[in-house]
Amino acid sequence: MRYLIKWRGWPIECATWEPEPDLTNCQELLKEYKNFISGKSRKRRPTAAEVAESSERSKARVLQLLDCINFDDLTPERFEQVLAETLTKRALQSVAKRRILPSQSRMIAGSKRSLGIKIQAELKNWELLLNANEPRAKIVIENKVDLEGPPLAFTYVTKRVPGPGVSIPDDPVLGCTCTDCYEERHSCVASHVHNEGRVPYTRQGRLPNVHASFPIHECNSLCKCGPDCPFRVVQRGRQFGLAIYRTKNRGWGVRTLQRIPRGSFVVEYVGEVVTFEEAERRGLEYDRQAQTYLFDLDLDGEPVYSVDARDYGNIAHFLNHSCSPNLTIRCVYTQCIDKDLPLLALFAAEPIPKGAELTFDYQMSGAISAEQQQQQQQQQQLGADDASESAAENASVVSSSVGGASSVNGGGLARMRCLCGSANCRRFLFD
Ligand SMILES: C[S@@+](CC[C@H](N)C(=O)[O-])C[C@H]1O[C@@H](n2cnc3c(N)ncnc32)[C@H](O)[C@@H]1O
Ligand SMILES: [Zn+2]
Ligand SMILES: [Zn+2]
Ligand SMILES: [Zn+2]
Ligand SMILES: [Zn+2]
Repeated sequence: MRYLIKWRGWPIECATWEPEPDLTNCQELLKEYKNFISGKSRKRRPTAAEVAESSERSKARVLQLLDCINFDDLTPERFEQVLAETLTKRALQSVAKRRILPSQSRMIAGSKRSLGIKIQAELKNWELLLNANEPRAKIVIENKVDLEGPPLAFTYVTKRVPGPGVSIPDDPVLGCTCTDCYEERHSCVASHVHNEGRVPYTRQGRLPNVHASFPIHECNSLCKCGPDCPFRVVQRGRQFGLAIYRTKNRGWGVRTLQRIPRGSFVVEYVGEVVTFEEAERRGLEYDRQAQTYLFDLDLDGEPVYSVDARDYGNIAHFLNHSCSPNLTIRCVYTQCIDKDLPLLALFAAEPIPKGAELTFDYQMSGAISAEQQQQQQQQQQLGADDASESAAENASVVSSSVGGASSVNGGGLARMRCLCGSANCRRFLFD
């Protein structure tokens, strides 16, 4: 017969199994244990003094056990595990019932509380860091759901970063000479030369048509206009206060702290710009981990670069997918006019009320035309499976726009159930 020995001064994890002949210093304990196991202890009614003594001993042992536990690093799950491992010994079970279980629940509540406080403090620090990076429009971090803290392997950046072997030029060749670009919108470089006469933004700097998909050229450093020109929108950066909040069923998400008018620029999809080959390589790894952070920049069908927001990104890293999204994505050129390297900008596809979650369609490549959207809605009425096919088709037929994440890391992905909750839900994140 061997006994599991918890050594004084050593944590419970260091307990070892020892043969009976080696147990020389604890005869009393051994006798009591044997009596208990054989049920002898129940043959005679113990005296009040014995009960009190045994209760004190048990209490001491329980406290000794609790002493071994480092509550600072203990998760509630680990605490349960330690107790369960220890309390499989029958001798302690009755003690457990009387003493540990009530205190166990208190301990768990207590350790949860202290863990909660620690995590809330970490989230607050993270919030301070994020706001120091981008003080213009505030970011609030909110977790009222679970004990998840800031993501560890994620670096928050406000501008895209070139990946291995990628360089991002910053040298526009043509600027405008307007005194008021909107007044002169039909001759301004922003609309006249690059956008083939299509005016990129309204006087308020909003998309005139949220269903259009042509890439937008903004005024740049060679233009004579000032920083408030309505054709400088994405380059001015995020204007709306947003919250990164813990959703009940989809991890982190983003919601707006303010009402956002339709067509307004909300946030750039920032990440590491990688070559398409590199994206394909990373895509295989991300698929295995069911991660969806890659976006192709496929202007003419064949993407040359992709944006990977997994390890480096801004608040867009936390945007969830919806089959009825309220954001739409457009390619935008500001200083870098390499046609393969547009910025990815997310705009409000509809007026978004304060507090609403912001979402985009992971499969959608850029804004779809009104005609395509109508077609998609018709298809959706025919049935969810048909609708997902139609969406995938749309994603591939839209030219001069952003490739959906699907084309890189949707393919090998185990089908992930979509929890967007919209009436038009296609049921899976990727087809
Ligand atoms: C770009 S991340 C979005 C942020 C993420 N929720 C987080 O906590 O970091 C994409 C991941 O979020 C989850 N997700 C996003 N949209 C979802 C949806 N509609 N249904 C289910 N899961 C979703 C999936 O786990 C997906 O791989
Ligand atoms: Zn101009
Ligand atoms: Zn201008
Ligand atoms: Zn200009
Ligand atoms: Zn859905």
